[in-house]
Amino acid sequence: MKKYFVIGNPIKHSLSPQLHNYWLEQNNIKAVYKKIKLEESEIENFILKIKNQEINGCNVTVPFKKIVIPFLDKLSSEAEHTQSVNTICFDNGDLVGYNTDIGGFQKAINSLNYKVKDKEILILGAGGVVPSIIFALNKMEASKITVSNRTYKKAENLRTQFNKINIVNWGEVPDFDMIINATSIGLNNESINLNTTNIGDGKFFYDVIYNPRETNFLKEGKKLGNQIENGKLMFIYQAFEAFKLWHNIEPTINSNVLKLLDND
Ligand code: ATR
Repeated sequence: MKKYFVIGNPIKHSLSPQLHNYWLEQNNIKAVYKKIKLEESEIENFILKIKNQEINGCNVTVPFKKIVIPFLDKLSSEAEHTQSVNTICFDNGDLVGYNTDIGGFQKAINSLNYKVKDKEILILGAGGVVPSIIFALNKMEASKITVSNRTYKKAENLRTQFNKINIVNWGEVPDFDMIINATSIGLNNESINLNTTNIGDGKFFYDVIYNPRETNFLKEGKKLGNQIENGKLMFIYQAFEAFKLWHNIEPTINSNVLKLLDND
């Protein structure tokens, strides 16, 4: 029986096991996928178990996506550029770190038929997932990417990886076609207090959060007459990409899979 894990801290709320175990069963793969809460001091030993093949692979979530890097042999170019690893594989004797958040975001947006090409994007937040989102937006040829973060310095740090991004102060709302909430505001029903005076309609409000499925940020966007979408498909597609890496199979995404994540 092969063993896969998602590691993080906290990990209680992770829905990755639901998805992966469903797909494993659907594809008659003899394997199990579990979540495990680790302390930072336990990471190295855990990753060694993948090298020893006691464990066959793992997903990595907050706050370990960067911390795992020194323990790996190789990184995909996307993981290297974003310094963010969410999937670890054992390939030909090497521990390899991949970033499937990038493909997850890109596939989610593509599946909605939204065209990012030549669009101006405003990102709220500068935390762990933001480098992956910027990388994907660049691949999709956004014309302008602006980051606004409460801690200005953290937005500025992103410039070392992405020298073309613009930065505005927290609370400033420049013109945009698509706005992305990549902060944790809304997880517990909080509001961003966005100044919506000049936003109007015809824009795209995207929230990385998918539980609750409609944050106050998305409610506000909808009220103004904008297209809205939560992060559920991004989450599903990052898992899809990880599944493909481990098992060489593209799992099915259908209404049953979408329902697996409805826990509100
Ligand atoms: P990390 O920063 O450890 O990667 P994260 O959950 O990925 O954690 O990111 C949280 C994001 O939400 C950050 O951009 C954070 O802003 P700061 O960099 O200023 O901390 C943002 N955030 C969380 N709570 C916030 C709040 N009450 N107001 C504004 N931004 C908030």
